[in-house]
Amino acid sequence: MSGPLIMGIESSCDETGVGIVRGHELLADEVASSVDEHARYGGVVPEVASRAHLEAMIPTVRRALESADVSLNELDGIAVTAGPGLAGALMVGVGAAKALSAATGVPVYGVNHLSSHIAVDTVENGPLEGSALGLLVSGGHSNIIRVDDLALNSSYVGETLDDAAGEAFDKVARLLGLSYPGGPAIDKAARQGDPSKVAFPRGLTNAKDMRKHRYDFSFSGLKTAVARWVESHQASGQEVPVNDIAASFQEAVCDVLTQKAVMAAQDMDIDTVLLGGGVAANSRLRDLLHDRTEAAGIRLRYPKIRLCTDNGAMVAALGSHLVAAGVPHSHIGFPTSSSLDVDDIIVANAVAA
Ligand code: KG4
Ligand code: ZN
Repeated sequence: MSGPLIMGIESSCDETGVGIVRGHELLADEVASSVDEHARYGGVVPEVASRAHLEAMIPTVRRALESADVSLNELDGIAVTAGPGLAGALMVGVGAAKALSAATGVPVYGVNHLSSHIAVDTVENGPLEGSALGLLVSGGHSNIIRVDDLALNSSYVGETLDDAAGEAFDKVARLLGLSYPGGPAIDKAARQGDPSKVAFPRGLTNAKDMRKHRYDFSFSGLKTAVARWVESHQASGQEVPVNDIAASFQEAVCDVLTQKAVMAAQDMDIDTVLLGGGVAANSRLRDLLHDRTEAAGIRLRYPKIRLCTDNGAMVAALGSHLVAAGVPHSHIGFPTSSSLDVDDIIVANAVAA
């Protein structure tokens, strides 16, 4: 296979990822995670994440170059997550990418993390044909994104108004006494539970909300409903049926995510839904989305779980699309942007600066 040789660097949250692709071919995917260091806080602590990125960055770059068996000078581009994400964490990756670029003369591309989550699917499932709707669900984001061209054109369709889906999993796991990160723990407990035990609220699905927030999500009301249910049970001296509550909560999240993704695809006449982000590992979400897309005649794509969570290969995959499409690289002085919008696929193109 041929195509541009691109290194991708990811440091927007708690994963230090460095990946290398040649065209659509994945040559290296090295990830160092600081997830264990955040476990006792029940969520990612930005300062801890930044320090961990600093320590892991150079060794992870080295490992990626070794496993791809390429040298820095051979690269056609270095892509790095410019946003959205944690400001201090982003700066570590962007600083590293700029330093490597300055030392080698290889052009640098400051790219969008959300677009990268979508682009990575092409490494496994081949090029996207036509438009697709991305359902991105992780600890930091819950979005429906319309992708008309991976390198040039994508836009928000819907987003969460409060907690991200993974954040809700983590918070509910905590109040059920399950381990961090909460998603895998709830997924496991739910397998032994009854999803119809409690009909927890489906956020933003009543008729009024469907007019104003048709494709948006809200998970904080659900989280509060679970907390109230657990508190009232404990107050009356009853034991909390953890597996049933995990299953009922999970069902409420997956029901809304799949319902709105399929509805958006149908409304927009788009025949492909692409699932990504850490919550894409959820077994119920995969099954339900599979069933509902199939019933609606919509194609469902998702990469393997390892590529759904944050990694450098996804950044490299997007960089490869940008280079192949002839998009100018970023100016070396480009900034990080914690709240970068999805329509900014690349920041500060050199020609535009
Ligand atoms: O994409 P990711 O690794 O990092 C972020 O960008 O946030 O996603 C991590 C999130 C965590 O909130 C974790 O609880 C959730 O993904 N997660 C899951 C599962 N595995 C990971 N949520 C539900 N079910 C799972 N099996
Ligand atoms: Zn992510």
